[in-house]
Amino acid sequence: MTLPDRIDPTAPVLLFDSGVGGLTVLREIRQLLPDAPVVYAADNAGLPYGTKTEAQVAARVCGLLGRITERLQPRLVCIACNTASTIALGMVRDVLEIPVVGTVPAIKPAAALTRSGVIGLLGTEATIRQDYVDRLEAEFAQDKTLLRYGAPRLVEAAEAKLRGVTPDPDAVREAVDGLRSMPGGEAMDALVLACTHFPLLADELQAALGPEVRLVHGAEGIARQVARLLAGQMFERARPDLALFTADGPGIASLAPCLESYGLPNIDVFSKR
Ligand code: DGL
Repeated sequence: MTLPDRIDPTAPVLLFDSGVGGLTVLREIRQLLPDAPVVYAADNAGLPYGTKTEAQVAARVCGLLGRITERLQPRLVCIACNTASTIALGMVRDVLEIPVVGTVPAIKPAAALTRSGVIGLLGTEATIRQDYVDRLEAEFAQDKTLLRYGAPRLVEAAEAKLRGVTPDPDAVREAVDGLRSMPGGEAMDALVLACTHFPLLADELQAALGPEVRLVHGAEGIARQVARLLAGQMFERARPDLALFTADGPGIASLAPCLESYGLPNIDVFSKR
């Protein structure tokens, strides 16, 4: 691994998600490392990941991160997506020669918080079926009840919200009712937001769940891990931070004011060439 003093101070931190969800991780990274240059890459051509197969997600994530890192030479990659991380984190680490930080469901802190012993886990359909989640459950929540629920409509709702559209209340209601109607669901008092899109809907989810349910996600912990790995490195922002998309289209223009508010005034489309 490169020594800290050899790292180009303009080399960015690369965040990667299928869409806008990773902005919830970027927000926390900005708190700890305000001077770090950032490229936020969204594979909107592949959105949503949550309804794809493991093979499809792994191929996209490994292929894209290989090409993007070759082109942009980041100092670190943060996969700000639970679906991509629970499926492909190990593979990406095998391929890249820089530190790779993943985003995995925050089952451990939720297990420490719950009093009833019933924890909800709201993720994409792909995330909730991963062995990675089985392992986290076995390690940290063996004596708890973990209720897993896949909520693809919440990904759409979060994408819409950041484009100025009121999130569909039915999508939130469906997810909450789905969790509550599982055996033990009435006693749920902690909910893991196991998709980086979902903290964008924290207010809506909290209102539907009631105040007794604590929402838990991993963004702050991920930011601390990124800051630890970059400790002692120099930062210089040679150009305004960039949001990079894999497909052009009207969905990008409507996102521009939001991206600006996250400190991403530059927008570009990643071409395969
Ligand atoms: N933000 C992604 C995650 O954390 C998923 C959204 C999608 O389905 O693409 O899982």
